[in-house]
Parts: sequence; C-alpha cells; structure tokens
Amino acid sequence: MAAVSSSVRRTPLIAGNWKMNLDHLQAIAFVQKLAWSLKDAGHDFSAVEVSVFPPYTDLRSVQTLVSADKLPIAYGAQDVSEHASGAFTGEISALFLAALECRYVIIGHSERRILHHETDEQVSLKVVAALENNLTPIICVGETADDLETHGASAVPVAQLRAALAEVRSAADIVVAYEPVWAIGSGQAATPEQAEQVAAALRAVLVELLGEDVAAKTRILYGGSVKSGNIASFMREPNVDGALVGGASIDVTEFASIVRYQKHVGL
Ligand code: PGA
Repeated sequence: MAAVSSSVRRTPLIAGNWKMNLDHLQAIAFVQKLAWSLKDAGHDFSAVEVSVFPPYTDLRSVQTLVSADKLPIAYGAQDVSEHASGAFTGEISALFLAALECRYVIIGHSERRILHHETDEQVSLKVVAALENNLTPIICVGETADDLETHGASAVPVAQLRAALAEVRSAADIVVAYEPVWAIGSGQAATPEQAEQVAAALRAVLVELLGEDVAAKTRILYGGSVKSGNIASFMREPNVDGALVGGASIDVTEFASIVRYQKHVGL
C-alpha cells in the first residue's frame, strides 16, 4: 500500500460543502472574497486545489462570476439525480450541472443517505450519471457511531465504496471522501491515525477494483469537523489528500485558512 500511495503526487483538494447555507447573492460575495483573500495571501492554486459546493440555486451565479473573473476556484453540486431527465419532481440532472460547468458533484453524503434514505444502489447510479457527463464524483462513505462499535472503522466505508463503484469498470476520475458520521458537525474529528487507517483501506479497494494506476492518482479526502486548527495533522497522513469541510467552509476567513494549511504549520 505504501508504495502505491507514495509513488504518485496527488494535488490536495480542499472542498467546501456549504450544505443548505448562503443564497446566490451571499454566494457571489463569498466566492469573490475567498478568491481575493487567497490571491492576496499568495496562494498557489495549482499546489492546493480549492472548490466550493453551494446550493443548486447559487450555481449559475457562481459560474458567471468564476468565468467572468477567471477565478481559479472549482465548484460543484451537493447531489445529483441518477436520472437524465423526465418526471422526477425536484431532481437535478447531471446534464444540467455539466451545462453550468461544474467540475465535481458530491454523491452519497451521509445527510442524503440518512435523511433522504438514499441507498447504495442509488449512489452507484449517481456515480455513473456523473461520470457519463464528465463530472468528477466525490463519493462520500463513512460509518455511524454504532457501526464503529459493532464493525470497527473501515468495514462500512469499504462496503459503501465497493457498492458505489459497482457499475464503474474502467479507469475513472473520482474522488473519495471518508466522513465518519459521528465526526460530522460534532466538533469531534477523527484522529489523523483513524483517518489514515480507513483511507488506506479505501485505497486498497480502489487498487482491487480499478487497478494500481487509478488508485494511486485518486484523491481520498477526510471530512468531519475539519478546522484550520486540525487540517494540517490530517494532511500529514500519506493516504489523506484533502478535506471535505462543512461548517467551517461557510466562514471565508476560516476556510481560506484551511486552504492555506501549508503556511500555518511547517509542512
Ligand atoms: P463538518 O461537515 O465539517 O461540519 O463536520 C462535514 C461534511 O458534512 O461534509
């Protein structure tokens, strides 16, 4: 495993999942401020990639701003339908996200799985829908506190990743996010060692299902109570290639500080 993870340089990805926060006007102000504060601070966007995941209603505004000002910030949606079009009231097609030049889409977030009863099968179909439209899925997996007690840390995330990739046969551009449910919004992040252990197990699944090359270049994020004060400790782990940030991603100063983790510690 170590050989696989250390042989390829993966560009770290910091992803801000806004959840149901910030309307389109707030989104414009936020993205402008984020871009300018990072530029002012001399951030190298090719060294640490920055992305935001606003609500659907903000995406067109964010697209317009990013493309007009050529901002080096990627964006995507927090979910996508598994269907391309048709009688699916309230759903959003991957085609529509691609038309708004989204680069990524979050799929299978635990809030979708738990609050909206999204199944592993739906997650797998959504991954296919994203890939067919050249969107990079950020596939979320993670165990609840009960799962952790009953099965240990990696069993459920590993099973969820296998299920999510059930229809993916060949080399694919994907991102995996390990988000222990008990760590989300709780202020109690996993330890860097816990995150590394599960990330390594997830990378082993990628090796098995998609081959060494894809596994070596696929980014695995950690998510769950990431803050500017703990991000660097996760980023030191060899199999952790970034973070999916919730609460701390809607505070511009805090999010910019997370993006600049290399500067506030001696990494
Ligand atoms: P949190 O959320 O950073 O607020 O814990 C992470 C997430 O749900 O993606």
